[in-house]
Amino acid sequence: MKSGVVVLALIALMVSSIESSGNDAILCNMTEDGLNACKPSVTQPSPVVPPSPDCCKALSGANLSCLCSYKHSLVLPALGIDPDLAMALPAQCNLTNPANC
Ligand SMILES: *[C@@H]1O[C@H](CO)[C@@H](O)[C@H](O)[C@H]1NC(C)=O
Ligand SMILES: *[C@@H]1O[C@H](CO)[C@@H](O)[C@H](O)[C@H]1NC(C)=O
Ligand SMILES: *[C@@H]1O[C@H](CO)[C@@H](O)[C@H](O)[C@H]1NC(C)=O
Repeated sequence: MKSGVVVLALIALMVSSIESSGNDAILCNMTEDGLNACKPSVTQPSPVVPPSPDCCKALSGANLSCLCSYKHSLVLPALGIDPDLAMALPAQCNLTNPANC
């Protein structure tokens, strides 16, 4: 119970720092703009839309093995991102996921 509260507090902290940050990399070398560009393609429930060029551009500069490490964390859902859709994204941009992803 107690650790759950701590986790939630940490997520709230991360989300609020994301909301207030500008163009700095906030997650695995992705910028807020980059994340926002990708959001329509990684949000449930919604029709799967192909990632925009802006999203792919942001993704190509992102650290994909770092993103993979968030696959099973609560951070992505807290950002409104569906982890499964997120992991399918690089392939849609013709980028390759790290082997152990
Ligand atoms: C981080 O992103 C910037 C801008 O997209 C890029 O120039 C840089 O190479 C990236 N750094 C890493 C470690 O991928
Ligand atoms: C990418 O992320 C992984 C895991 O967080 C880290 O070990 C690695 O140094 C990062 N690579 C770059 C180029 O920043
Ligand atoms: C990915 O590659 C295929 C085949 O080369 C190409 O038709 C497609 O337009 C590319 N998609 C993106 C997002 O670059």
